[in-house]
Amino acid sequence: MSYNDRFIRACRGEQVDRLPVWYMRQAGRYDPDYRKIKENYSLLEICKRPELAAEVTLMPIKKLGVDAAILYSDIMNPVASIGIDFDIVANVGPVIANPIRSAADVDKLKPIDVEGDLSHVLETIRILDRELDVPLITFAGAPFTIASYLIEGRPSKSYIRTKSLMYSEPAVWFKLMDKLGDMVIAYLRAHIGAGGKAFQLFDSWVGALAPHDFKTFVLPTIERIFSELSDLPQPKIYFPGVASGELLPTLTNVKADVIGLDWRVPINEGRRRLGGSFAVQGNLDPYVLTAPMEVIKEHAKAIIDEGIKQPGFVFNLGHGLFPEASLDKLRELTEFVHDYSAEAIKA
Ligand code: CP3
Repeated sequence: MSYNDRFIRACRGEQVDRLPVWYMRQAGRYDPDYRKIKENYSLLEICKRPELAAEVTLMPIKKLGVDAAILYSDIMNPVASIGIDFDIVANVGPVIANPIRSAADVDKLKPIDVEGDLSHVLETIRILDRELDVPLITFAGAPFTIASYLIEGRPSKSYIRTKSLMYSEPAVWFKLMDKLGDMVIAYLRAHIGAGGKAFQLFDSWVGALAPHDFKTFVLPTIERIFSELSDLPQPKIYFPGVASGELLPTLTNVKADVIGLDWRVPINEGRRRLGGSFAVQGNLDPYVLTAPMEVIKEHAKAIIDEGIKQPGFVFNLGHGLFPEASLDKLRELTEFVHDYSAEAIKA
């Protein structure tokens, strides 16, 4: 089979024959074969076995017919290399043994050593580069989202300790953003060196901030990350996560190619707020997938009709897949987006 570059072309704002589709969290617990592997290995154990991590990455490609693969890993993986001891606890998420709460805790963080500590991640990317006939998207967590786990110690709804540190001790906060920014830049550059074809920076929880605070406390580091990586020709995606609609007008100077939208902002409105300089990706509410197939298709149609009005659109969800999602519905949705958008683009 020939290489499918539809996703890369859409990221660059080029014409496509039909819309590319991939799903955030497309490798995961909704798939019975994945659950079988999870009976014997934890997420971190899978990540440390490159052959197995590559196999899990490949699972949704064949089953769903998507146009891109996303590396099986977790946003927390690189923090092991800067000196953070963590675990991914089932049905909870990342849990940190010694949360970061003080200037001394931030000072202790080491520079990342990707080749030394994360060679298994690079090896997984190399295997996938040989085996895939669609582009491999690699990813990192963005500094705010990573910091929220490091500071809270576990998933949080309020981000109270994170915001408290940010507002009360800005010097400590900015030092932490700098160190996490350095980590992300080195980590993503190594991914591309190993064969990654695009990357996404997941800022899943930054929508918790007011636009003014996002601009002051987070955006400078986001701009620095994409500027320092701007010599790489591979498409770069920034996903500002859930409830991020109000942040979109602030992103003008981020040197990303694509911005991921959540489902609260219609595609046209998202494009308008972004000022026209980015491709966009999104944004079906993942929980629409619990509805009958006709309802799912109606929602997808509305997104596609807006998406195809301009080049530079990637069909995705507005946030990650959840464990109860149905493989059959996802396969049917992918086919529907391909067929319906192909007809609409021709017309
Ligand atoms: O998208 C993919 O298919 C690639 C794999 C991937 C995982 N995590 C594997 C995983 C990706 C892209 C991530 C990113 C990630 N991890 C994010 C950003 C994306 C988002 O959803 O906003 C965040 C916030 C995390 C942190 C994290 N890891 C959480 C909140 C959880 C869920 C805890 C739970 O059990 O519900 C995890 C665990 C995790 N990471 C799972 C998977 C498949 C589920 C548990 C497992 O299978 O072991």
